[in-house]
This record gives sequence, C-alpha cells and structure tokens, in this order.
Amino acid sequence: MSHRFFLILLVGLGSVGLASAVSADRPEPDLTVGRAAYQQQCARCHGVEGKGDGYDAKRLYPRPRDLTEGVFKFRSTATGTAPTDDDLFQALTNGLPGTGMPDWSHLDENLRWQLVEYIKSLSTVFTDAPPEPANLGTDPGRKRIDLAQGKAVYDKLGCAACHGVSGRGNGPSAATLTDNWSRPIRPKDLTERWSYRGGSAPREIVERILTGIDGTAMPSYAEAASPEEVWQLAYYVQSLQQDIQSTMIAHSHRVDGSLPEKADDPQWDEAPRADARLRYVVDAQGAVNAPQTVTRLSFWALHNDEALSLRIRWNDVSEDRPAPTAVGADALAVTWLPQGVAGDVISLHTWPLRGTPPLDLCLWIADETGGSVHEAVVQDFDELLNNSVAGSARAGQASYLDGEWTVVITRPLSPSDVSGSAQLAGQSIVPVGFVVWDGGNPGQRAVSMWVDVVFRRDTQ
Ligand code: HEC
Ligand code: HEC
Repeated sequence: MSHRFFLILLVGLGSVGLASAVSADRPEPDLTVGRAAYQQQCARCHGVEGKGDGYDAKRLYPRPRDLTEGVFKFRSTATGTAPTDDDLFQALTNGLPGTGMPDWSHLDENLRWQLVEYIKSLSTVFTDAPPEPANLGTDPGRKRIDLAQGKAVYDKLGCAACHGVSGRGNGPSAATLTDNWSRPIRPKDLTERWSYRGGSAPREIVERILTGIDGTAMPSYAEAASPEEVWQLAYYVQSLQQDIQSTMIAHSHRVDGSLPEKADDPQWDEAPRADARLRYVVDAQGAVNAPQTVTRLSFWALHNDEALSLRIRWNDVSEDRPAPTAVGADALAVTWLPQGVAGDVISLHTWPLRGTPPLDLCLWIADETGGSVHEAVVQDFDELLNNSVAGSARAGQASYLDGEWTVVITRPLSPSDVSGSAQLAGQSIVPVGFVVWDGGNPGQRAVSMWVDVVFRRDTQ
C-alpha cells in the first residue's frame, strides 16, 4: 500500500518537475531561426509580414490573424493585455479546433519556442501591454459543483443573449455580431466539445469567461462575477458539451411493415445514429466570406423492401422559411450517385464543376407548411433550387426546435419516376452525401463527405 502511494507521489512530482524543466530548457531566442520557420510554415496564411494576408487567407473563415496588431483571443491574461509565452505555445501546439489554424505539435519543441519569440517580435503589445495574469481562483472540483447554480450564473450574466438558452449559439443577438475586423462572427455553439478553440475543460472555460475573447463580442466577466461563480458556470458549460462520432459507414436496419413518417416515431430508436462533420465550400473566387453556421449533421436510416427512410438532424441557429421578405430558405439535399456512376468520382466539395457527372438529389426546401421534397438527376443544385427542373415529389416531414432541424425523407429504393436515378434495391452498400443551406446565412453551403450506408437484411 505505502509502496504504491510512494510511486504515485513520485509520478506526481516527476510531472511537476518536467513542466518547469521545459521552461528552463527553452532555447536562447534566435529570431533568424523563428523567422525562417515562420516563412516556411505560417506565411501562406498569416502573410510574409504577419499581416494576415497570406495566399490561403481568403479560403479560411475566421481569417488568419494579423499578428502585427497584437490582438490575441485565447489568453490566460487580463483583457487587452498580451498573452503569456505559454498561451502562445499552447495555441501553436494544439492549434485552434474548428478553424483553419492547424496544430503544430509535430514541430520540434525548440522550434515552437522560437516561433513564439518570433510572433512576439511582430507586435508592440508585448511591451506596451505586457501579459497580466488573470486571477482564475481555485477549482472547487466537480464534486462541490451544483450545476443548477451554474445555470443560474449563466442566466444572470446573460450568456443566453448570444449563446442561446441551451448553448447552441442561437441567442437573439447571434445573427448580428461582428468582430474587430468588421466581419460577421457567431457565438460559439457550446454543445460542440470538439470545436472549443481554447480548450473544453472547466479551467480553460474559466479563462475564457474571466479574460474574454479579445477582438470579438465575447466580453470579459472579471468585473461582473466572482471566480467562485465563474467556476460554477464553467462546470455548467461543460455539462452542455456533446461528442461527435463522425463516420464513413452507417447502417440501415430493415423493418417489417411500414416505415416511420414522423421524426418522433419510436421505430427510430432501433436505428443507430451516424454523425458527419460539414464543411463550407469556397465560392467561385476561391473564398469563404461568412462564418460557418451549419457544422454537423446526424442521421438515422431504416428500410423495408420498398423504400428507405432517413431521419436527418442538423444545427441551424435560425428557422428560415421563405416568406415574401425572407432572404432565403433553409434547405437540405441528400445526394446519391446516379445509375452508372460509381466510386468516389465526385467530391461534394467541388461539385458541380464543369465536366463532373450529374448527381441524384432529394432536395428539401423549408416553407411555411413544413417543406417539400423533390428528387431529380441534375447537373447543378440550381436546377432544383430554382425550380427549372420540377423533380418527382417524395414524402417529407420537417420540424424545427431550438436551433435544430429534423427532417424525415422517404424515398423508394428504386424510383421509376426519375430517369437515371440511383437504384438501391438489392444493393448492400450505397454511398450517400448531404448538402445544407442556411437561409439566414445565404451564399454558403455546407457539405459532408460521402458516407457508405450498409443495408442490413435482418430485422432488429
Ligand atoms: C492554414 C492556415 C494557417 C496556418 C498555416 C497557420 N495559421 Fe495561425 N491562424 C490561422 C487562423 C485561421 C487563425 C484565426 C483563428 C481565430 O481567429 O479563431 C490563426 C490564429 C493564430 C494565432 C492567434 C491565436 C490567438 O489566441 O488569438 C496565432 C498566434 C497563430 N495563428 C500563429 C501561427 C503560427 C506561429 C503558425 C505557423 C507555425 C500558424 N499560425 C500557421 C490559420 C493558420
Ligand atoms: C455579446 C455576445 C456574447 C456573450 C454575451 C457571451 N459570449 Fe461567449 N462567445 C461569443 C462569441 C462571438 C464567441 C466566439 C468567438 C470567436 O469565434 O472567436 C464566444 C465564445 C465563447 C466560448 C468559446 C471559447 C472557445 O474555446 O472556443 C465560450 C466557452 C463562451 N463564449 C462562453 C460564454 C459564457 C459562459 C458567457 C456568459 C458569461 C458568454 N460566453 C457570453 C459571444 C458572446
């Protein structure tokens, strides 16, 4: 017993020793080394002079930072002051998930420190407003947290105005925020554990709340709340987080009898969930000019001998059903490979390009009654979106609840009313893809990878 305790103690001490040893082992700053690494790894996004105007910049949203301005988002330091060296080292090492900023953990540690030194040489903020560590208080530990109190702090501080009542980034102010660079910005969807840029653990969330996210609408709450309250709040925010299990393979279970038409039919409990991350495609100028408002999609598949039903759910902060004044409608396309088109010849990221084969689409468009679904084999989304091709009607049901659409689409396995359409009867694996439009964020579409749906013959 005591032996084991001793070992644990040693391990504990060892890691503390290691952490400080790393700092002590930092190389002598050498800006030539840092500059060379910067030009090689970072300039294509952040620009040769660090002004955020690299060759790839316009393809990314949010844009790569202008590192000469000295505005840093993810700091352990008071708002308006420079980040610490460790903050920069963390951002470099872990990257900023959910943005174009990659992680650089594969670079030699010494080189990462040289890059930190080089970043600091680009802006005067490090001397004008040197890092001032924020008082983060003490972690009370999960056991001493009352999530109801955390929720009360969330309400009291008005987080819901931006992040929404359930944290999905769909608060009343969400659609109108801009950042320091006059670009639209959206509050984070706090339920997405995988895309916290500054880290999803309570301590990191405390840092965000007490120091704010400089350059954005997210303020510092250091004056508005005590560290004790903020720890309660941070654990509450953590309790909202969910995981995503993106998959390339989904399973459709066979049902005896009729397929579910409604989203809340208990038959769906039999179907396994499949998740897919969605990405925005660049426009004709090779740019992305809006924040990504639709980021993920889950679906469930059930089939019988005649048809396939898909229940599809995705996040969309605004419910956009076209009225005479609406900019655009929310819409979803389920994509299939038409007869005779095989393999991965088409990427939804590049379709439609001149010369790419047509696709079989089941397109749902929101309207005041719920929406309609039409299927056609087309060369371009516009043919169906603009109604220049009428398509064949399919059964569809849609509902919108608190920042999420759920749509059920039922399609015959082998439609006879659409020439060249995907014939699924007798197939055991069928690729399916998804394309989503957010009417409140027009001009951008989010696409998935192809997911292989395996048709299971057995009933569950
Ligand atoms: C593929 C594009 C890309 C490359 C390459 C890239 N970055 Fe970034 N970087 C970004 C984007 C995009 C952001 C802004 C993210 C945001 O605002 O949330 C960013 C933000 C940053 C920030 C700001 C962090 C903060 O807390 O505000 C730093 C520092 C940074 N990058 C350093 C680097 C360094 C050093 C390199 C090279 C080793 C590098 N980046 C390479 C895209 C890139
Ligand atoms: C005025 C709008 C606004 C309010 C109010 C607000 N936030 Fe935010 N928050 C934002 C925006 C915008 C971002 C995203 C910043 C970005 O994209 O760089 C954000 C990001 C975050 C993040 C994500 C950090 C990461 O690592 O990616 C957390 C956590 C967060 N907010 C928590 C809160 C909490 C808790 C409150 C209430 C105390 C709150 N916010 C209040 C606008 C707001």
